[in-house]
Amino acid sequence: MASNSVTAKRTIADFTCEGKVAVVTGGARGLGYAFCEALAESGASVAILDIGQPSDEALEKLRSFGVKAEFYKTNVCDEEQVAKVVDQVVKEFGYVDINVNAAGIVKDEPFLETSISNIRRTLDVNTIGAYLVAQSCARVMSKQGRGGSIIFVATLTSYQATPVQNISIYAASKAALRGLIKPMAMELAPHGIRVNSISPGYMMTDMTKMLGEQNPELIKAFSKESMFGRMGKPEELRGVLIFLASGASSYMTGQDVLVDGGVSSW
Ligand SMILES: NC(=O)c1ccc[n+]([C@@H]2O[C@H](COP(=O)([O-])OP(=O)(O)OC[C@H]3O[C@@H](n4cnc5c(N)ncnc54)[C@H](O)[C@@H]3O)[C@@H](O)[C@H]2O)c1
Repeated sequence: MASNSVTAKRTIADFTCEGKVAVVTGGARGLGYAFCEALAESGASVAILDIGQPSDEALEKLRSFGVKAEFYKTNVCDEEQVAKVVDQVVKEFGYVDINVNAAGIVKDEPFLETSISNIRRTLDVNTIGAYLVAQSCARVMSKQGRGGSIIFVATLTSYQATPVQNISIYAASKAALRGLIKPMAMELAPHGIRVNSISPGYMMTDMTKMLGEQNPELIKAFSKESMFGRMGKPEELRGVLIFLASGASSYMTGQDVLVDGGVSSW
């Protein structure tokens, strides 16, 4: 008979990013920063690419996990800047193993009135910017020969319209990312690089807080959509992020994971 005494550590070792290097866009705040914290806590060094600067405390918190964390002021839409920064990250960190693309913008405009500047800007940041960073990181990963994991951040609203906002071009810019993961997964699999995305529902971040300040009814409306009657917290995406970034998902590629508090399941 086996004894009931437990000697092994009760954890699944695959769920770790120990010794990996992550490039995280939009990591200065919001979901991007929550992803940086989760990565640092699970042992990855983090390079934040953002147009906005993270606070010193935010960087220090990442370093308190005993990993390297640096900020690189980068506009993800600028092809030259992106290539240069990714090269610099490789020089300073040694590798790129994980790329999380969380930089994004959203502007509420009814379809009939959506401006060409909103259309161009949203596609530029959310779709082209994510493409360019992923491409630069994948070029590095494919040369390194140690595989990699690329994660895009799409959205629930690329699956279904939200009755709460008028964001057609935003939804389309993110649906494009979900369209991108399968062909990228196919082309990059021979290099051991996996490509997946996360589609969050309504999460409480700086972006949504700002929208809520302009229109307090919005937060109530977002909350009502969820089966839990509340918006999601950024840290509630940590588990899925580490699953996709780590070896725990080594047989998973070309997939989107919808984390929406039940909004799409009524
Ligand atoms: N908050 C939500 O409910 C929600 C839901 C689904 C998807 N998302 C997506 O998650 C991501 C993060 O959202 P958030 O709510 O944390 O937003 P946020 O506005 O709080 O953070 C976005 C970050 O992206 C950066 N950024 C914007 N344009 C950039 C550019 N051109 N180059 C580099 N960095 C740039 C900003 O400076 C900021 O730090 C976005 O892609 C968003 O579309 C958010």
